[in-house]
Amino acid sequence: MNNLVIAIDGPAGAGKSTISKKISKKLGINYIDTGAMYRAITYKCLKEKIDILDEKKVIEICEKSEVDFIDNKIYLDGKSINDEIRMQIVSANVSNVAKIARVREIMVKKQREIGQKNDVILDGRDVGTCIFPNTKYKFYLNASPEERGKRRYLELKEKGENVVLEDIIKEIKKRDYIDSTRKVAPLTKAEDAIEVDSTNMSVDEVVNYIVKKVRES
Ligand code: CDP
Repeated sequence: MNNLVIAIDGPAGAGKSTISKKISKKLGINYIDTGAMYRAITYKCLKEKIDILDEKKVIEICEKSEVDFIDNKIYLDGKSINDEIRMQIVSANVSNVAKIARVREIMVKKQREIGQKNDVILDGRDVGTCIFPNTKYKFYLNASPEERGKRRYLELKEKGENVVLEDIIKEIKKRDYIDSTRKVAPLTKAEDAIEVDSTNMSVDEVVNYIVKKVRES
């Protein structure tokens, strides 16, 4: 693997996607939001009224779905679904889809294929631990659950969703719990990842810090 791969992992709402998008622009590299792929499958299951806890059915949906990135944007079966996958109903269900081993197998294969072709920054839960464990550039982005909840709440409010801050914080904590205790590729900091606590940092401060670290090494 000779291309540049930057791995940004961390818990829900830590700012990974905002930071990764900015870094991708700054460095002129591709951006892959790995979480968007799990969200896409979750969205499809909800739309088709599949019981999320019925693993067999979820796997069936996953196996027959086409999830792609075009211009760094997520597509499901040829349709752009950027806004749909951010809905709170998708967030509340996605971790139960992402914990299914077969679903992860299909997604990780795709993520590796995309990541092997071009210089890329990927954000998610298992980029540095599982998808690209050999990359030199690994970061673990964190912030307090309250701060993460507040950021996500403001984002959703801005999009016109009718949400309650306490519910968002609860959902984020629940998702972190499922993500970090699942059997396959649980959320954890890779030993060689640099941890960045963004609780009291601005977006640009985090972006500049990571870009500097990448350029230094
Ligand atoms: O943006 P946010 O941090 O809320 O979440 P996301 O990155 O869109 O990821 C949504 C969910 O997908 C996570 O809570 C995980 O359950 C799952 N996920 C995963 O299992 N592995 C990844 N590499 C990325 C996301």
